[in-house]
Amino acid sequence: MHDSITDAVGSPLVRVDGPPGTTVAAKVESFNPGGSAKDRPARAMVAAAEAAGDLTPGDTIVEPTSGNTGIGLAMVGAAKGYDVRIVMSASKSPERRRVMEAYGADLELVDGDISDCRERADELDRQEGFVQMRQFENPANPDAHYETTAPETIEQVGDRTVDALVAGVGTGGIITGLGRGLREAFPEVEIVAVEPEENAVISGGEAGSDDFQGMGPGFISENLDTDLLDGAETVGLDAAEAECRRLAREEGILVGQSSGASNLAAKRVAERLREDGTVTDPLVVTVYWDSGERYLSTGLFD
Ligand SMILES: Cc1ncc(COP(=O)(O)O)c(C=O)c1O
Repeated sequence: MHDSITDAVGSPLVRVDGPPGTTVAAKVESFNPGGSAKDRPARAMVAAAEAAGDLTPGDTIVEPTSGNTGIGLAMVGAAKGYDVRIVMSASKSPERRRVMEAYGADLELVDGDISDCRERADELDRQEGFVQMRQFENPANPDAHYETTAPETIEQVGDRTVDALVAGVGTGGIITGLGRGLREAFPEVEIVAVEPEENAVISGGEAGSDDFQGMGPGFISENLDTDLLDGAETVGLDAAEAECRRLAREEGILVGQSSGASNLAAKRVAERLREDGTVTDPLVVTVYWDSGERYLSTGLFD
């Protein structure tokens, strides 16, 4: 028995369809208590702020987010007795807002993108009683994945070697923390970032605007350890959404856009590794951040 819902963090690693002669497996992060990968950093950032004496009873947690971190913080805040104020772009899906409000968080909607949300959260942070988690810079974000997502994955692959990690990037928390842990266990592992075609800053492109929720912030986050990366793949939104529909209808796995994009890129990398011939049956790990239920109102599955 867990003492708190926040102790129930964890997810399965599931084999999915990959190119013949390869193995593609996904961490299905919708299994976490708040429904996404971001429960892990939410819990860790709150614990770090408490340990540093920055967050004390009566304070309000504030954070700019595209949604899942807000839901994670709303869940952790409710479980630990903190008020939570989320600053979010008005363009993000209404499901996200409703879930945060259901956990009792206050929402502030901002016209603009994540950079505008960050400015507003900084303003609030300067006021007495607000404590910002700063997921783009806070080392507790990647550390959460290094300490939980990575050891889980290493245990779940059993006696197999992970040949590549292919994952979308927002704050860089997952790819940095999970990537560090995997590289320690499997020094040859290839680490490949996935980003929107229209906002391919890791690939050296110009910052643009895209409709992905959660990945492709349009800048290189401080929490992204670019030294870990061996390359980057780009995926367009239409292709990612078509892959979400295929995953739901053909594999029974309901996921959101960044997961569809990461899956497409993971299959490309698996195919390339098999063609290179250096390993037989390469194992490529990818991440599915959240459930497709968070995107129903966007028409993604229509
Ligand atoms: C749906 C979704 N995909 C991808 C990401 C990117 O994850 P990370 O911030 O760990 O890079 C996020 C982060 O918020 C997300 O919510």
